[in-house]
Amino acid sequence: VDLGGIKMRNPINTASGTFGYGWQFEGFFDVSCLGAITTKGCSAEPWDGNPAPRMAEVTSGIMNSVGLQNPGIRAFVEQDGEYLSGLRERGCQVICQVAGHSIDEYVRAVELYGELAPFASGLELNISCPNVSQGGAAMGATPKAAAEVMRAVRGRTNLPVVVKMAPHDVPEIARALEAEGADALSLINTIPAMAINVHTRRSRLSRPTAGLSGPAVHPIAVRMVWEAHRVVSIPICGIGGVTSGEDAAELILAGATSVSVGTANLVDPTSAPRILGELEDWVREQGATDVNELIGAVEC
Ligand code: DOR
Repeated sequence: VDLGGIKMRNPINTASGTFGYGWQFEGFFDVSCLGAITTKGCSAEPWDGNPAPRMAEVTSGIMNSVGLQNPGIRAFVEQDGEYLSGLRERGCQVICQVAGHSIDEYVRAVELYGELAPFASGLELNISCPNVSQGGAAMGATPKAAAEVMRAVRGRTNLPVVVKMAPHDVPEIARALEAEGADALSLINTIPAMAINVHTRRSRLSRPTAGLSGPAVHPIAVRMVWEAHRVVSIPICGIGGVTSGEDAAELILAGATSVSVGTANLVDPTSAPRILGELEDWVREQGATDVNELIGAVEC
């Protein structure tokens, strides 16, 4: 499949923040069997993230309030660049996620990736993180804000730019991003949520609010991908609670070109290759020779 210029050997990707920087999973399976991996969001300078506890398991998924903790692009490239260059040579695409507190910081981060990360196949602009008070979701809250950040980074990189969206106002924001030159969209990010320990009456996480991911959000992701696919012609990476080949297939039928596995990686590190195998079975079962025949093929 072709995600806006990122040519993937199959549609299975890993969602940013759930797959480390890739090498952590090599002991479990050959990571190069995947179409792509997306690395944890990095900013121009290191960020500490929010204090612990910042993850909690709930019945239907996982809540996190990590706050985009990252070592900064320079340290990331020093630590992981060699592995990621090798992974790219092995045929797996490497999508690097970009974080920032302001438009200037997004621009600086995009430029730094361009200077320091020759292994990057594309960038994913995160404008939908629910866990940072400056930047993050505020950058993607309205069509105007999303357009401004996309416009600012567009001229600063030749790499394909995928924009990661939140699950609200999807048609309007998707149209604005396409108009400003986004090469692809990825959706959805986690859903703003809250979990309370009823014994202590305190939030289960260090901050009162967090993002929910996992099976609970899957049908919402299917709907949001379908809404975006109806109004834009750029490709979409579907993300949200994928635990099986059937879940991935649903996102493809709704309009996704590729599908990211997220929370499932944390539950079972071999989820992504299993889901890839199940997806291949489904493509065959549908009598298709190429998964591209099935993108957006829902009948309604
Ligand atoms: O749920 C999320 N957590 N979404 C993001 O975009 C970033 C991450 C974090 O680091 O908080």
